[in-house]
Amino acid sequence: MNRLELRRPDDWHLHLRDGDMLPAVVPASARCFGRAIVMPNLKPPVRTVADARAYRERILAARPEGSDFEPLMTLYLTETTTTDDIRAAAECDFVHAVKYYPAGATTNSDSGVRNLECVHPVIEAMEKYGLPLLMHGEVTDGEIDVFDREAVFIERHLEKLRTRFPGLKLVLEHATTADAIDYVRSAPEPIAATITVHHLMYNRNALFDGGLRPHHYCLPLIKREHHRQALVEAATSGNPRFFLGTDSAPHPKHAKESDCGCAGIYSAPAAIELYAAVFEAAGALERLEEFASLHGPDFYGLPRNEDRIVLERSPWAVPTGIPAGNHQIVPLAAGEQLAWRVKSGS
Ligand code: NCD
Ligand code: ZN
Ligand code: ZN
Repeated sequence: MNRLELRRPDDWHLHLRDGDMLPAVVPASARCFGRAIVMPNLKPPVRTVADARAYRERILAARPEGSDFEPLMTLYLTETTTTDDIRAAAECDFVHAVKYYPAGATTNSDSGVRNLECVHPVIEAMEKYGLPLLMHGEVTDGEIDVFDREAVFIERHLEKLRTRFPGLKLVLEHATTADAIDYVRSAPEPIAATITVHHLMYNRNALFDGGLRPHHYCLPLIKREHHRQALVEAATSGNPRFFLGTDSAPHPKHAKESDCGCAGIYSAPAAIELYAAVFEAAGALERLEEFASLHGPDFYGLPRNEDRIVLERSPWAVPTGIPAGNHQIVPLAAGEQLAWRVKSGS
């Protein structure tokens, strides 16, 4: 097979940043994704509908000429978020979810939640209005091994939340473990998980492949091979609870290649092509469209995109660096040859 036509995919977990970074990264997502759920972890975070409206305008202004790329905005859940904030979000037509970060879990998460019980009234309002809660599902307890933080989060918090708010739409973002997959597969509805391409491609050896690999460092960390296999199995299974979310998270090269490097992998420049490679290696290329283009909008209650993109077997090399203001960003698979490429203008 040398050509694959898909309904236009969407990215259900994306970091676009702000300032100089924004115009440098928007085109990579806009070249093939129709819409993206845009993460609110700016500094300061996107807390209110007014913040989201202003950020959305900046994103729209950073789109390439002629692009219809649509940012789907999210609010950052803090311990001061009110039920009025939630009502306003539910009533406006451009905020589609609220994001939960445990304080201290990941990049720009200091304003996150320390105690989930503090935000129960707000979560109750989300349940009432049908506004999905997107979760960075890791505990931050220093006693817990960093590779176990997702599994412990599910055990300690997710199950409780589901029981307390059975109607709440939940997305476990960037699922990385077989535990997460098993949980999402068997929990009562409505729950889903996004799966990144890097967690499908690599196991944790990729962090130390011949030396320390800062460009493979993200949170939650890439896990053991059996977890990777469970993720591939879920993504290619046709189960509508699993869909594409790149978690493309650009940081300047110097901030990654540092004695205390930032977490985040910039996958947007080759994201759909890398997913295609994973699906092809699993013998499931015909399942890519469901995962990339159908399950996400169905879960969010949005229409599927009507137009299509074409992937061609046409070898190309991922750029080694992308300029952003005075900096460079190193993309995932930098300098590597890929088999598939999105036909430009498709
Ligand atoms: C993300 C970022 O850089 O904003 N980093 C990451 O490693 N995934 C934050 C996040 O999604 O947790
Ligand atoms: Zn996260
Ligand atoms: Zn993220």
